[in-house]
Amino acid sequence: MNKKIKKILKKKNKSKVICLTAYSKNFAEIVDKHADITLVGDSLGSVLYNYDTTRKVTLENMIEHSKSVRIGVKKSLMVVDMPYQTYQNKRQALINARKILKETKCEAVKLEGGFKIKSIVEYLIKNKIPVMGHLGLLPQSIKGKFKSKGKTEREKNKLISESKLLESLGVFAIVLECIRGKTADLITKSISIPTIGIGSSAHCDGQVLVTDDLVGLNSTSIKFVKKFVNIKKEINRGIKKYKLEVLKSSFPSKKYSY
Ligand code: KIV
Repeated sequence: MNKKIKKILKKKNKSKVICLTAYSKNFAEIVDKHADITLVGDSLGSVLYNYDTTRKVTLENMIEHSKSVRIGVKKSLMVVDMPYQTYQNKRQALINARKILKETKCEAVKLEGGFKIKSIVEYLIKNKIPVMGHLGLLPQSIKGKFKSKGKTEREKNKLISESKLLESLGVFAIVLECIRGKTADLITKSISIPTIGIGSSAHCDGQVLVTDDLVGLNSTSIKFVKKFVNIKKEINRGIKKYKLEVLKSSFPSKKYSY
């Protein structure tokens, strides 16, 4: 087993797993210093391309961004989302997962779903592809509004069973998106691999956020997003100063000229 994955597994019940997204080298360099997992998420579709759904993200999009991220990731585990319709059956999933691993040099892939993708996850893991799971709100499957999951007894039991199933198939961690706190707690206590929450309470073994959201580069009103810093303000300040100096002809001075 990959050493970084072993380290992540050992964090269960000891310390929190930190996961953050990156879509390019410059962000990856910063994220890598702090994260256990750097995720090239297909959220890049909405964050960078303004798509109304992650379904529009292609395998080529993911591979190109991941190549850039790879340059910046040195110590964390690099995981890449398999985009919509790239894992419709076992053989297609294996071809695409191998392509992602080979071309981006990432260490694992993430797939959305539980019971529906059982045979696919099983086949990937049998063929030595490390897989991270994703349950709860599944952006590749939703039509319409974002709704929280795990509210009813039926939903709760299904999520617990799916988590246990993914664990038994050999996934090394599961992202729990928008799952009610109590249900996320129950899932976390029912399995021995880490759960990584997003909008699913602090009961999870770790947390993930879209980095562009938490640093205030991407404007969003999603409930689970906390803006920890407003980097947009700082960028604006720098650019304003640059513009002013260019307009005054004080930049470039001799120091910055040949
Ligand atoms: O696409 C993504 O960035 C994700 C995380 C937010 C979990 O799947």
